[in-house]
Amino acid sequence: MFSLLKKPLVGIDIGSHSIKLAYLKQTKRGYELLHFGMVSLPPDTIVDGEVENPSAITDAIKNLLKAEKIPSGARHCVFSVSGQSVIIKKITVPLMSEDDLAESIQQEAEQYIPFDIDEVNVAFQVVKAEGEVPKKGEKAPDDDDSQMDVLLVAAKKDVISEQSEIIKDAGLKPTVVDLDVFAVENGYELAYGLAEDDTFALVNVGASVTNVNIIENGITAYTRDIALGGNVVTESIQKNMGIGFRDAEKYKLGHLDESASKDDFVAAIKSGVHEICEEIKKTFEMFQRTSEGHVRRIYLCGGGALLDGIAGIIMQEIGLDCELINPFRGMKVNRRRFDEEYIEKIAPVAVVAIGLATRKLDES
Ligand SMILES: Nc1ncnc2c1ncn2[C@@H]1O[C@H](COP(=O)(O)OP(=O)(O)OP(=O)(O)O)[C@@H](O)[C@H]1O
Ligand SMILES: [Mg+2]
Repeated sequence: MFSLLKKPLVGIDIGSHSIKLAYLKQTKRGYELLHFGMVSLPPDTIVDGEVENPSAITDAIKNLLKAEKIPSGARHCVFSVSGQSVIIKKITVPLMSEDDLAESIQQEAEQYIPFDIDEVNVAFQVVKAEGEVPKKGEKAPDDDDSQMDVLLVAAKKDVISEQSEIIKDAGLKPTVVDLDVFAVENGYELAYGLAEDDTFALVNVGASVTNVNIIENGITAYTRDIALGGNVVTESIQKNMGIGFRDAEKYKLGHLDESASKDDFVAAIKSGVHEICEEIKKTFEMFQRTSEGHVRRIYLCGGGALLDGIAGIIMQEIGLDCELINPFRGMKVNRRRFDEEYIEKIAPVAVVAIGLATRKLDES
């Protein structure tokens, strides 16, 4: 068991656009990147969060394991879920030990979760407490009416088991399940740390989902998964320029046909990003209703962050500084193994997989 505990996990980020895989080594001086790779999925593999073609994902993972030469001993992995199958809520409960909370959380969760409680896995994390959280087996005094804030997480069992099966079919052992928003936080923290006296938003723009995690005083204060991502920009190009999805996607990556109007293209990009920004703004307003803090800046990641000029458009739309996250900043990257230019370029897309790969086997 002990040797297992010391073994790193393979981080697998299953997205509707692509699969990313990362494997790190932890040394005394911090992390070293051993393996990172990604592979696109055929269109319609995952539609509106539903897996339509599981074997395409299994094949993609198998290909990645082979292409990245992941050692055959590294089979335990961690993956993450997001979107409609996940609920994250901050709740306030009386001060109690974590083992007491573990016993009562299922019942407690029932009133906050819009799913049948038997259909979800529930987890929690104490984020803030008035006074000291009682230790295992201890109780807070009866006259103590102190409270604590707990981040309650519920994820649908069927979605977790579906993804687990897909991963098992690829020859891996899914051992830990995480959430995209937390993986982004871990990937960010690894590179930049979490300042105690700051409020900022981590925004992961995928293809179909944008995960927002607002960090206040070093902890998650508010999260929301927006059902919009880079696809909305592609669709905007399609509409504005009268072309199909494939061509629009090609244009978006910077390969504009000579005959195409640059003005129409720029207008389409702006209007697509505008839609995402409206939802980000709405998310900040929702956060504002729960806190006195103000989001001061935005850190961006995901494939959507690679869109040329997106940080500038977001700055204009939302009026906050916006920077791209480079999760490799916080670790050793062997320049003989990885092409520096490539790693720099795709860094924001790797955040979730890197955040996942920092998880350990003993964590739940
Ligand atoms: N160089 C680029 N320029 C512009 N957009 C890009 C670029 N590279 C990727 N994208 C876009 O990023 C999106 C994919 O991002 P990502 O890989 O983070 O999504 P995903 O994790 O597969 O999807 P999701 O999590 O939403 O299911 C797509 O919309 C893709 O077109
Ligand atoms: Mg994603």
